[in-house]
Amino acid sequence: MESRTHNCGELTKKNIDKNVRLFGWINSTRTHGKIIFIDIRDRFGKTQIILNTDSLVEKGKTLSNEDVISVSGNVVARSSDLINNNITTGEIEVVAEELEILNMASPLPMSIHDRSASTEEHRLKYRYLELRNSELQNNLIIRHKTTQVVRNFLNDQNFIEIETPILTKSTPEGARDYLVPSRVHNGKFYALPQSPQMYKQLFMISGLDRYFQIVKCFRDEDLRSDRQPEFTQIDIEMSFVDEEHIRDMVEKLIVTVFDKVNNNKMQTPFPILTYEESMNRFGTDKPDLRYPIEIKDFKKFSDQSDFQAFKNSESVNMIHVNNVEYFSRKVISELDSYAQSLGAKGLAWMKYNDGSFEGGISKFFNKDLQSDIASDCNINDGSICFMVADSSQLSLKVLGKIRVKVAKMLSLYNANNDSVFQPVWIVDFPLFDWDEDNQRFDSVHHPFVAPKDKDIKTAISEPGKAISKGYDLVINGYEVAGGSIRIHDQKLQQKIFETMNLTKEDIDSKFGFFIDALKFGTPPHGGIAFGLDRLVMLLAGVNNIRDVIAFPKTTSASALMEDSPNTVSDEQLDDLGIGIKENEKNV
Ligand code: AMO
Repeated sequence: MESRTHNCGELTKKNIDKNVRLFGWINSTRTHGKIIFIDIRDRFGKTQIILNTDSLVEKGKTLSNEDVISVSGNVVARSSDLINNNITTGEIEVVAEELEILNMASPLPMSIHDRSASTEEHRLKYRYLELRNSELQNNLIIRHKTTQVVRNFLNDQNFIEIETPILTKSTPEGARDYLVPSRVHNGKFYALPQSPQMYKQLFMISGLDRYFQIVKCFRDEDLRSDRQPEFTQIDIEMSFVDEEHIRDMVEKLIVTVFDKVNNNKMQTPFPILTYEESMNRFGTDKPDLRYPIEIKDFKKFSDQSDFQAFKNSESVNMIHVNNVEYFSRKVISELDSYAQSLGAKGLAWMKYNDGSFEGGISKFFNKDLQSDIASDCNINDGSICFMVADSSQLSLKVLGKIRVKVAKMLSLYNANNDSVFQPVWIVDFPLFDWDEDNQRFDSVHHPFVAPKDKDIKTAISEPGKAISKGYDLVINGYEVAGGSIRIHDQKLQQKIFETMNLTKEDIDSKFGFFIDALKFGTPPHGGIAFGLDRLVMLLAGVNNIRDVIAFPKTTSASALMEDSPNTVSDEQLDDLGIGIKENEKNV
């Protein structure tokens, strides 16, 4: 086969009068009298081809979209009225001399160009065709660029890329494991890694100093628009560092990625919020700081009002926004239902106009109290306040969600900030959560996270009060990375496991090798892992994780194209020593 001289996105005015050969798919054909126009397409772009001889036109009539062809001919300038400035090849066209059909395409089961014309299930079944769509190809190119920039950056910073096992042992990231039965060791199972956490810490013990890996991780958990059962981490670990060193390195990495991939100039240092501050001001540990709305404590005002329902509540919180005219009865009632669906008893409201509150629960607040509220909370004319009274946790959580919903309704972005990306570090997480069901303390991140130096004793004596050296990086409301400084003292690590109510046998069988390793000269170390898929979602400007993964799973963790998971033969099950419970077969 003769080779192509150019790809389909490459020819410009500079190539006029050159003889060229292109390969690609037929994107579209149009017949004008005795001339056929063809758009030939490949990953790089589209070029207009003209068939204007009798024999070529005859051949052209047999062509269908998505046939694969080769064309050779002369590059000519388009007449000025036909120039298309939207594509790089828009000033030229190729007058064909030869056309060869390399492969005819059967009628396609879906539209390549209009993804919305098919259901997502149908598109995932024919994903290889959907991947011909330029939007999806562009997302994969962004993903590729991101990993290239990350690799180059980390290489320049003396990190080395090392692979870790996929057939491994259960890792404590908190989700369910994907298990792989062993044939050789009947009745035993490997677990697919939820992350390479212990391996990367072991690399630090080995003295490898700076490690990274772009690595698949597997978690059997409920899926959402930003979660997949197998996803990719940019996993990083460093020796002889504290929280600030890691934040500093990560900020440089993120600034480089957003600059090189997206031409976006992010400002450093990124803002830092403690977990507590983030919960109190935004009702979440993943705040979207593009929205200027903040939650305010309203209890001190409602306690002075005549509104009994609020006085009996542990906590009352409030947000206020402008654009009062947007909030018709209907919109308020929609927001109220949304608040109730999140567990609130209701969403109280009142509007502020001409220096006083009106509507909703305003009648319970006297004039003086009203003006205190307005001046204390900086409420302007034309604003509306929304209040939720409940336990502190629920009231903050619900208002956090109402905050985002209202901000989206009104398309609010921080007017003072022209960057579309708003990063924020969340730090000072609690070390443990209380697990009510199992009546024990559970790590907020994972059990290897070090407590703050001042909290080393508290971590054991009053676990619920200890603060950790963990940190998350959040951008536009997505948790894009999480990490921590680790425990490098063997005794402390052992005690942390005991605090989590793990028995000695449990600790030995799950983490024995790791605890053992810690005693052979472990350097202080820490690290972080990015969700690559989430990072690419932000860079590509999409809000569905499946749009940045070549072959993603559905929300029920199925692969529709290859039809997996699937049943296996009885022979394979016999080999593995596995029997499927009869009543659960074929469900
Ligand atoms: P963590 O569990 O926070 O930390 O995971 C790190 C980052 O991975 C991404 N992520 C996911 N992305 C898509 N689908 C999922 N199911 C999914 N789960 C997590 C998130 C998250 O911030 N070993 C630690 C890191 C460390 O301590 O260094 C860990 O895995 O963006």
